Amino acid sequence: MKCIRSIIEVREQLNSWRNAGDVIAFVPTMGNLHKGHMQLVEDAKKQADRVVVSIFVNPTQFGVGEDFSTYPRTEKQDKEKLESLGVDLVFMPSVAEMYATSNITTISVSDISEGYCGAKRVGHFDGVATVVSKLFNIVQPHKAFFGEKDFQQLAVIRAMVLDLNLPIEIVPVAIVRESSGLAMSSRNGYLSSEQKELAAQLYVSLSVAKEKILLGQADYSEIEQQACSKLTKSGFEPDYFSICRQLDLKKAGKADKNLVILLAVILGKTRLIDNLQINL
Ligand code: PAJ
Repeated sequence: MKCIRSIIEVREQLNSWRNAGDVIAFVPTMGNLHKGHMQLVEDAKKQADRVVVSIFVNPTQFGVGEDFSTYPRTEKQDKEKLESLGVDLVFMPSVAEMYATSNITTISVSDISEGYCGAKRVGHFDGVATVVSKLFNIVQPHKAFFGEKDFQQLAVIRAMVLDLNLPIEIVPVAIVRESSGLAMSSRNGYLSSEQKELAAQLYVSLSVAKEKILLGQADYSEIEQQACSKLTKSGFEPDYFSICRQLDLKKAGKADKNLVILLAVILGKTRLIDNLQINL
């Protein structure tokens, strides 16, 4: 497995693979790899000749007071995991390498970026869209793999790829969960063992709401309110619990068939997100 930190060297290696006719899959990450990330890599392996993974904790997607400086950096373990999965190249640029220029250009995907996490984390999705487009331009993959865990992020990337006519297939990967139901996340490492146990309630709350919808309960705002008050009673600080349309993340109504329930909560000092899709 090649570990490369320089953009020029990545380009050289990728050019030679592309010229040889290899299909290139790309998995962007911020490292501290867990089974969710591993699933993305495994799916990528199955669908390409070469798999490239990036590890870059991107400062521009963290807000003031967020966890950029404390975000877990576990490079050695990450490299071992990627090597064992047969990854061809891991790209680990420094912040200086990625942001060496004037950086006066931002990719901003309006509308779909603005609600939910975008409302609380102002500028977050601009940071994500900009870094992902930079990474796409450096790697120039045929396919890129993103987890459904970050459902809004996936929607933002899909819109960006369509709007900018990028010749990249975006491949979604289902959420990987702990046996408790808790969605795997690097930020779960911030939780105490009691908090981690409590956090399993998030998936329960999504499942209860899904059941109500499947049983035909028509008042979606009532379902949302009941879920929020239950979560609050359990010790979470809910940010949102919203029954939306998968397509554009607008509030779902009775006529909509492809739904996703999006949630974000604060538990102690940790922000957790999860979601559950429903196809009626
Ligand atoms: P990161 O949080 O490291 O996640 C990298 C990828 O792994 C994302 O596509 C995310 O959705 C996916 N992922 C995380 N947990 C998952 C789980 N439990 N099941 C399935 N997939 C999961 O998302 C980012 O990094 C960054 O914003 C990035 C796209 C790399 C841009 O900086």
